Amino acid sequence: MHRVALPPDFQAWREAARDALRQGYLPEQIDLQDDSLERPMVLALEADEAPGGPPVERPHVPKAFLEAAQNAAVHRDPNRWNLLYRLLSRLQAERNLLHVGVDTDVAELRRLTDQVRRDVHKMHAFVRFRKVDAPDETGNPTEHYIAWYRPDHRIVPLVAPFFAERFAVMHWTILTPDASVRWTPEQRQLEFGPGVGREQGPREDDVEDLWRSYYASIFNPARLNPEAMRNEMPIRYWGNLPEVDLLPQLLQRAEGRVESMVLQQKGKTTAAPFVPAEHELTILRRAMPSCEGCELYKHATQVVPGVGAEGAHLMLVGEQPGDKEDVEGLPFVGPAGGVLRKALGELRIDPAEVFMTNAVKHFKFVQRGKLRLHQNPRMGEINACRPWLRAELDAVKPRVVLCLGASASKSLLGGTFALMTSRGKVHESPYAERVIATVHPSAVLRARDQAGHEQLYNFLKDDLAMAYELSRHPA
Ligand code: URA
Ligand code: SF4
Repeated sequence: MHRVALPPDFQAWREAARDALRQGYLPEQIDLQDDSLERPMVLALEADEAPGGPPVERPHVPKAFLEAAQNAAVHRDPNRWNLLYRLLSRLQAERNLLHVGVDTDVAELRRLTDQVRRDVHKMHAFVRFRKVDAPDETGNPTEHYIAWYRPDHRIVPLVAPFFAERFAVMHWTILTPDASVRWTPEQRQLEFGPGVGREQGPREDDVEDLWRSYYASIFNPARLNPEAMRNEMPIRYWGNLPEVDLLPQLLQRAEGRVESMVLQQKGKTTAAPFVPAEHELTILRRAMPSCEGCELYKHATQVVPGVGAEGAHLMLVGEQPGDKEDVEGLPFVGPAGGVLRKALGELRIDPAEVFMTNAVKHFKFVQRGKLRLHQNPRMGEINACRPWLRAELDAVKPRVVLCLGASASKSLLGGTFALMTSRGKVHESPYAERVIATVHPSAVLRARDQAGHEQLYNFLKDDLAMAYELSRHPA
């Protein structure tokens, strides 16, 4: 009998298996085992008689087998090495073996790879980072995120690239009983190390929020089926999750807080990570309250989504909710809305027929005593919020968009759009085929004298009439 000790990873098995195959060992002559349960880091090759088969110099190894074997190799089932050798050996004569689903070896391989895949999935979802202050190599303090997790199988190398991509700009370490892995953003490098016990994991929990958000971001409510999620998440994990009570709220959240955090570290503000993939209005409305795409959510009462029917032919885009809209959660219900509705009424346009929304979904103001004074959004805020407007455009697919005022015009027609010289004309925009710009109803209210008031009101009404007329027919 000869016995070779090897680390139990795929590479080691591959070399041992090639060696055995080259010498002509049949599967039943060989026993490939992890060295012992206490020392599972060693794989032994044992053979106790002369090879009983022909030597195989150049083994035939289909790509699909290689992939499956790499996954099965990290499974804790002690029989996996023998199974893989048996399959490899049989594949030399039975080229289509892997397609024979009823074959017990093939079915067993499928069972192992399925379980590993599920384990990988769960680790993606349940790893929980905590913030610790750890000095870097040069002794400078840095923010470091650490997670401790116990996977069912030895999957750390399989999951590491996922976390490297998702948390590319952060310093993080994941500890498991089998192995640990560390990511250094500056070098864009994954480093693997030994496993550690639970007690070496972080205790302080400065950023429970980060984990909550991460969790919320994994389970995109737009696509989420709570029943499926419950089934997918075995009860034993639930004990680990402080946010089980939060599930109902989490289900309401859009994905992306963590992505947004990452983007903000890079100096970008955008609603994009919060916007669900599906752009149905009900889904958008449900996701919008969780937006933290720019600073404006912090002081406003609530987000104000657009109102109107999916399939409306005309979309009106204002600037942002005002004081009253912020309180009521509906667009154009304050004084400016009054002017707009008056014009619609005089043109005999049913407000229910048009879709009304804003370029920016949160109220921006400064507090002066009891008053909240409206402030114009900056270009950065208009840009940050545009993904919501785009999603609404995509849901409604209006034939014509009428921008009310400079902010909406800048959002859809570019930051240098000159409202007073270009209003009342049809423009093409990257976001909608036919876009018209007009004055904002609040500008009508602010007019200095009666003549100015009338002129601006007529601009608004004329442009509204034109936009409505155009929207009655396809382009
Ligand atoms: N002004 C706007 O631009 N939008 C509103 O919703 C209300 C006032
Ligand atoms: Fe998000 Fe827009 Fe509100 Fe900013 S204004 S937080 S981008 S919804």
